[in-house]
Amino acid sequence: MKHHINGAELYIAEKGQGAPVILLHGFPLDHRMWQAQVEALSGNYRVITPDLRGMGHSDVPEANISMEQYADDILTMMDKMDIQKAALGGFSMGGYVAFALLRKAPKRFTGLLLANTRPEADGMEARKNRMNMASALYDKGASAARDAMLPKLLTEQTAKDQPGLVESLSAVMASMPAEGLVHASLAMAFRADSVDLLGAISVPTLVIAGEKDPIAPPDVMKKMADAIPGATFHAIPGASHLAPMEQPEAFNALLLEFLQGVTA
Ligand code: MLT
Repeated sequence: MKHHINGAELYIAEKGQGAPVILLHGFPLDHRMWQAQVEALSGNYRVITPDLRGMGHSDVPEANISMEQYADDILTMMDKMDIQKAALGGFSMGGYVAFALLRKAPKRFTGLLLANTRPEADGMEARKNRMNMASALYDKGASAARDAMLPKLLTEQTAKDQPGLVESLSAVMASMPAEGLVHASLAMAFRADSVDLLGAISVPTLVIAGEKDPIAPPDVMKKMADAIPGATFHAIPGASHLAPMEQPEAFNALLLEFLQGVTA
């Protein structure tokens, strides 16, 4: 359903009752990437999966946007939905937003899932690639992001074995508003470095990598987990970047066990 948040209509999916769990999607995706987690968790939890501003069914911003503004949207969403505290999960770009949330309002989160994400800011080369992506998005529409990302999201084996998954992912990515993806690309390019934040994270943290993820490789994620006090780290076999969709059973088992400890 749509909610009026900070001057825009944002789409927020919600299912289940219990302690709230907020899951933030990656680029160029929307809440639909969490379908398997929503099914697995919503028997015991209130699972909230928003579409970030400019992505999925949410309004596209007219002015530029930053990770801090995406984070403000989530905090306003929590206020509007009467959620004082929640467990927070971020996948890839959603993880960058989760870092911004922990900088702004650490007391509002009871636990943290970091999936297939990394704490470092972009370097010059990565920024340049984001600019090229923004330009390609204007030229070709959302398919530019889809074509760049699709080969990195799933292992070759999964792409071969699950053509239906490839097709539905491709359709989701091609349906994104191109200009919303431009905003997201620029926001990622100029996001703050979160390496210094890691040691100050004081909520229980679960870090999940995909063993074959080329975007947030397991060694980078292990290093990140080691820097977060008490964090646990798992690398899921047979998963590339999109571990929550590619290996939902293994992913959900880790997440459910973690949430029991966090929300008990
Ligand atoms: C994502 O999956 O959200 C993106 O790959 C993140 C990024 O490009 O840094």
